[in-house]
Amino acid sequence: MREETKRTIPRRTFMGAAASAAFALTVVPGRVLGQDAPGNKLNIAAIGAGGRGWANLRRVADENIVALCDVDLEQGKKGIDKHPEAKVYRDFRVMLDEMDKDIDAVIVATPDHTHYVAAMAAMERGKRVYCEKPLAHSIYEVRGLMAAARKHKVATQMGNQGHSSDEIRLCCEAIWNGAIGEVREIHAWSNRPPGGFSFPVAMRRPEDTPPVPETLNWDLWLGPAQYRPYHPAYCPRYWRGWLDFGTGALGDYGCHTLDPAFWALKLGAPISVEANTTHFEPEVAAETYPVASIIRYEFPARGDLPPVKLTWFEGGLLPPRPEPHPPHKGFGGNGAFIIGDKGVIMHGSHGAGGCKILPDYKLEDNEPPPKAIERVEGGKDGHQQDWVRACKGGRPASGSFEYGGPLTEIILLGVIAMRIKNEKLIWDAEKMEFTNSDEANELVKPTYREGWTL
Ligand SMILES: NC(=O)c1ccc[n+]([C@@H]2O[C@H](COP(=O)([O-])OP(=O)(O)OC[C@H]3O[C@@H](n4cnc5c(N)ncnc54)[C@H](O)[C@@H]3O)[C@@H](O)[C@H]2O)c1
Repeated sequence: MREETKRTIPRRTFMGAAASAAFALTVVPGRVLGQDAPGNKLNIAAIGAGGRGWANLRRVADENIVALCDVDLEQGKKGIDKHPEAKVYRDFRVMLDEMDKDIDAVIVATPDHTHYVAAMAAMERGKRVYCEKPLAHSIYEVRGLMAAARKHKVATQMGNQGHSSDEIRLCCEAIWNGAIGEVREIHAWSNRPPGGFSFPVAMRRPEDTPPVPETLNWDLWLGPAQYRPYHPAYCPRYWRGWLDFGTGALGDYGCHTLDPAFWALKLGAPISVEANTTHFEPEVAAETYPVASIIRYEFPARGDLPPVKLTWFEGGLLPPRPEPHPPHKGFGGNGAFIIGDKGVIMHGSHGAGGCKILPDYKLEDNEPPPKAIERVEGGKDGHQQDWVRACKGGRPASGSFEYGGPLTEIILLGVIAMRIKNEKLIWDAEKMEFTNSDEANELVKPTYREGWTL
């Protein structure tokens, strides 16, 4: 047995340990992943069992959780303790090698910089994958994951759960029904990094080298990122603010708050992006995200839809108040204005939460526009199950990598613009390159540490 393995389960255990005694009396047909076949539970492995991994595991707890991988047994404890039937690993490569035949599907909920290596390793073995948002840490990785999902024909879902909500569907349908006319402008904002679930930004790299916690395998946590000594300023969760690991406030919230406009307006890829940021000191700008930024994107006309200017505000900066927004009301921590020539939609995060036509026409309380998009059972709480159904042969999950990839690219283009700053970068999505900046092109594809392949 490998060093990583803490507990064992018999091969092909279809039911959790607690349920298996009762199940033993039942005749079990061969396991077929047909949608409503009896007893057709998925064998799921999770990479990242704490933090968001734990939240995802709770939503698929009716399936068989056969393996859990976490580089930190303390951080992953919640998921590990809840699933004593699962075999536990520290290294997902070992888990996938050892349990290849026992795993049908994999949930990836590690920090952003290890999404690609984990999701790719799973898909290359034909596993279905649910991967947290943003889909990856670089544009090159996003394209790789999309291509792999197509090649291996596996069911995928990106973890922006708001995409399964009823509100985002209502928002799209209202726009398609002409509720606010033609849209040429979008403003979105986030109160992070300092707001909400805050994380450190505008920092130099720490010089002290505190001991690595006994429960953490730091080398595996780093994964493909260049080596640096451990520091509690990075993990858990603080990695968001560091360029090598996270994608800042934009990566934290953009996949949620830009999703409604991306879907409704079929935004696709922008042709330019430019960021103004608070970063002034080179030592700080080389390591962490800015305290505050404004990022401007331009999207071309798409069929009958006019060009769109999208502006992202973060770090407490806010867009100008559109005319119909009552002056005495705030904007909330995270949200967007979708500005049409006949009206303005305002919504919050996670699937157009609280979507209304300003000043106060709440879409969900009024005569709905014609239904154009199928609903997901359970709304945003049903996002993981939407993927489970797709894994079992149901319709593709609505936030598959085919959708989540291009949405993530908008985020990652903004991240590159923040690093170059004060320069309008012209993007050729088809060629996957900037036409006016070699420096920006350097940031499209990461350089992995020895031992990891891209
Ligand atoms: N959809 C949402 O609403 C939502 C909310 C929070 C986080 N997220 C996303 O989920 C991901 C994880 O975020 P988090 O806040 O849970 O981070 P975290 O730092 O709390 O880490 C999550 C877990 O993964 C483990 N881990 C780290 N690297 C690993 C590796 N290489 N292999 C196996 N396990 C590893 C950690 O030990 C921890 O238990 C991020 O991509 C984040 O953007 C999404």
